[in-house]
Order: sequence, then C-alpha cells, then structure tokens
Amino acid sequence: MTTRSRLSDGEIAFVHAQRAARLATSDAEGHPHVVPVCYAFDGERYYTPLDEKPKSSDARGLKRVRNIEARHEAALLIDRYDDDWSRLGYLLVHARADLLEPGDPLHARALPLLRERYPQYRAMRLETLPIICLTPMRVTSWGPALAAGASAVTSPWLEPGRDLDFLPLARGRRSVRAYQDRPVPRAALEAMLEAARWAPSPHGRQPWRFAVLTRDEPKRRLAEAMGEEWRGTLAMDGEPEEVIQLRLDKSRERIRAAPALILACLYLDDLDRYPDPARQRAEETMAIQSLGAAIQNMLLAAYSLGLDTGWMCAPLFAPATVRAALDLDAALIPHALITAGYIAREPKRRPHRSIEELVVRFE
Ligand SMILES: Cc1cc2nc3c(=O)[nH]c(=O)nc-3n(C[C@H](O)[C@H](O)[C@H](O)COP(=O)(O)O)c2cc1C
Repeated sequence: MTTRSRLSDGEIAFVHAQRAARLATSDAEGHPHVVPVCYAFDGERYYTPLDEKPKSSDARGLKRVRNIEARHEAALLIDRYDDDWSRLGYLLVHARADLLEPGDPLHARALPLLRERYPQYRAMRLETLPIICLTPMRVTSWGPALAAGASAVTSPWLEPGRDLDFLPLARGRRSVRAYQDRPVPRAALEAMLEAARWAPSPHGRQPWRFAVLTRDEPKRRLAEAMGEEWRGTLAMDGEPEEVIQLRLDKSRERIRAAPALILACLYLDDLDRYPDPARQRAEETMAIQSLGAAIQNMLLAAYSLGLDTGWMCAPLFAPATVRAALDLDAALIPHALITAGYIAREPKRRPHRSIEELVVRFE
C-alpha cells in the first residue's frame, strides 16, 4: 500500500483505464452516502457530472450535492476487480469536493474531458449543470495492477472486452495536430508499443521497429533535418519562398511541439526472399500493410488511455535524412511519424464514408 498526493505513471494509467468509480460524501451529521459515478481526470483533479436528472433543479437536489454543500470532505474509490488476482487494484482519493458552476474555467475544462471519455455525454446538455470537482488531498493505492513499470502497462488496458468497448474506441480515435504542453506518461508510451507488438504480420515476422522521442533535442534535430530536405523539394516544385517558409515553420513546429513522437520504421531483413521481383514486391507490401496495423494498434491504445495521436507521412519522403538525424541502423526504413499527447484543439474531421459506400459486394 502506498500513500501520497502525486500519482505514479502506473496509477495515472489505472485511473484513465477504469470506467467508473464510487464517490463517497457525508451529510452534516456524518451519515455516509456512496454512489457509482463516471469521472474524468485532468492529471490533477477528478470531475464527475450531474447527469441523472432531466432538470438542473433536480440535479441540484441530489443527495451528493446537498452533502457537498454541507461538508466538502469526500472520497473517490477507483477500483478494479478481476478473478485473476494479479489484476486487482484500487486507488482511494481523499479529496475536497466542490461544485463547479457553468462559466467556471474548470467547468469548461472538465466538460470536454468527460465527453472525451464518455461519448454518451456528447448528446447531453451538461453545459447548464454543475460538475463536481474533487481536488485530491491524499491518495492511497494498492494492487499489482497499479505497480509502476511494465507489469502495470500490460495488465489493465490491453485485454479486449474488459475495460473498453471497441467501437467507441475505433470511432473516437481521430488525427490530432495540436497538443497541450504536458508530457505523455512513460507507461502510456509503453502501452502503445505493447499494443503495436500484437499486430498481425506476414509469417509472424513483425517487420517493424520504433524509435521513441520525448526529449527536445532529438525532436529538434529531426524537425530541422526533415525541414531542410522538404525545402529542396518544395523549391523544386516552384513554390514561392514565403509559402515554403510558412509550410516549413508549421511542419517543424508540429514536430517540436508534440510531447512524444514515435517513428515507425519498416524492417525487412527477416522477410522471405524471392528470385522474382513481383513476389518480392508483394512480400514488401505485406510488411507495409502490417506496419499500418501496428500503427493503428498504437493509435487505439493511446486513445483508450485518454491521449490523442497524429500521423505524419513526412519520413516516407526523406528516409535517409531521418535515419541520419537519429543515427538509426541502415536496415530501418522510416515510414511514419506518430505524434502523441493530450489534445489542445479539436480537429476538423473529414467525414468517414458510410458502409454502403465502402462495401462493393455483400452477399
Ligand atoms: C498513411 C497515412 C499518412 C498520413 N499522413 C498525414 C500527414 O502527413 N499529415 C497529417 O496531418 N495527417 C496525415 N494522416 C492523417 C489523415 O489525414 C487522417 O487520418 C484523415 O484525414 C482522417 O481523419 P481522422 O484520422 O481524424 O479520422 C495520414 C494518415 C495515413 C493513414
């Protein structure tokens, strides 16, 4: 059992992975009251909305609301039970509870986080209702599922059908191009890589390798090197200098400002060899398809943990430059740069085609 106020990476991951918690409050006489709640965590505070009643006046009459108005002491229990007891864990947050009224900056911060985690809230008019905010005073945690390091990474998130429904995950993932200035927990990056590891691949050869960049210096080096190469191409295309400069500045900034980058490389050395070019090409295409599957696994894992991602194809156009900038082995072929972090700006999403448009035959 550990007691502290700051959370470890394993605990943060655990908090993001669970879907519901139990909120305990008490009235002025100390009578306890516990309810299950949905919640979001912004790295500092926990938020839970009042969403059960059709009218805001009803919501304000909830027992938990009256209790918080009487006493600010509260506790939030985020727990996980599994018949496999190596997956047990709980986090108990002793907190000060406050009601955030609409218009409060924290209310405006909490609402998108809640809607992010629970698509159901997107259809509800929560703007006019208070949100309960829990500011932790003390945190107690227990369980193998919360241990820092690799065991925590593999346990809570990656077993399908337990913590997350798949379709909301697949639909929710989107390409994000602006992030908060907030680091990505190492455990979350490890979870993304763990997810990649299980992607299908030709002959099971896993023809992919990844370089992870979180420090400023390698990010800057990569951005500069790719920028220089791109400048040459744009100039060759006859683009005017001011357009070139604008596009380069944007691209460099996107790379530098991403809290974490994962460079996805193709690695062909383990593939089968064929004497004829057609089969060789097919073999390499399979490897590329498989790299796409590994990347998608990473994107979904990140999304399931409350992170967002973006896909940059730029390395595909400058593989040698990228390899040199990061001092990578000659056998690695850089293909895609995945940005990851906590979203700062909602992207404008292009419509995804309907099933009818995509399926040419279904019989
Ligand atoms: C192979 C590939 C390369 C991509 N390259 C870029 C890129 O260089 N820059 C970018 O902003 N988005 C890039 N994207 C993201 C797409 O623009 C995005 O997936 C698409 O617009 C659909 O939006 P969504 O991901 O939000 O559903 C790429 C996606 C794929 C699959």
